[in-house]
Amino acid sequence: MSAQAIAERAPSADSKAAPTRRTIQISTAGVARGPLDLADPGDVAVEMQDVSCCYGTFRAVRDINLTFARREVTALIGPSGCGKSTLLRSINRMNDLIPGARTEGRVLFDGQDVTGREVDAVDVRRRIGMVFQKPNPFPKSIYENVAFGPRINGYRGNMDELVEECLHRAALWNEVKDKLKQSGLSLSGGQQQRLCIARTIATSPEVILMDEPCSALDPRATLQIEELMRELSEQYTIVIVTHNMQQAARASDRTVFMTMGDDRSGYVVEVGPTNEIFTMPKQRLTEDYVSGRFG
Ligand SMILES: Nc1ncnc2c1ncn2[C@@H]1O[C@H](COP(=O)(O)OP(=O)(O)OP(=O)(O)O)[C@@H](O)[C@H]1O
Ligand SMILES: [Mg+2]
Repeated sequence: MSAQAIAERAPSADSKAAPTRRTIQISTAGVARGPLDLADPGDVAVEMQDVSCCYGTFRAVRDINLTFARREVTALIGPSGCGKSTLLRSINRMNDLIPGARTEGRVLFDGQDVTGREVDAVDVRRRIGMVFQKPNPFPKSIYENVAFGPRINGYRGNMDELVEECLHRAALWNEVKDKLKQSGLSLSGGQQQRLCIARTIATSPEVILMDEPCSALDPRATLQIEELMRELSEQYTIVIVTHNMQQAARASDRTVFMTMGDDRSGYVVEVGPTNEIFTMPKQRLTEDYVSGRFG
């Protein structure tokens, strides 16, 4: 599918009413384009400042300066190995769990640098949740998968109501309401992934990071997850890594294109409204990638 065809299927970057966002002027004549970075300063959930990530002496990503706006879906695209997962994990300090991994620079979350040793990484991960490529429910009941996080966080409200609400929001309730005591592992792959999303939102994160959440799913389950992302983005900041260009075009407001240099170190080539990245990218590297000539 051509970039144009992909983009025609893409939702407008402006399609969602968000009062605090600037209006984007996209001129099809290629003149008088609006600003690339759409986030109003007051509406930024996460800001990465000069972030580099290393594994031992290898610098996997370098000099990342990005903002992620509240209530937007941002897609990270780029060839395999360019550091998308590494960048994503640096946002909620998941890289800390990898021996030898190191993050330089600052990651501001609600204006506070969360990379410092004095900051509780577990709390950061509660507020910035993550959904992985392979659905990974706990070997517990469907109910317990959702209740687990709130319980260890000392949730004092009505747990039954919370579980139901999260399963509703993850568009799974109707399929599981009669079998909440069954194992989460008994569900289909697409259902398991929605269960993992329910589990993630149960601890009330503000940001949800998704690393190729649909790569193990069939097209129908993929569309369900994409619709879900759209709904969740009314409330959450979502950052999704995907190799699926149609998915990036359909599901995201903004797209970040990364690639890697001769030293295999990944960097950001271009950031912009998704429509723009797919129809009139400013960089040749981006154009080659989104049109399938590279990567
Ligand atoms: N735990 C690790 N230890 C050492 N090097 C790593 C580790 N994880 C990733 N890397 C290296 O860092 C670079 C970026 O990897 P990363 O997984 O972030 O890329 P990616 O863009 O997510 O790739 P893909 O699209 O294949 O998932 C690669 O060169 C990879 O080999
Ligand atoms: Mg990856």
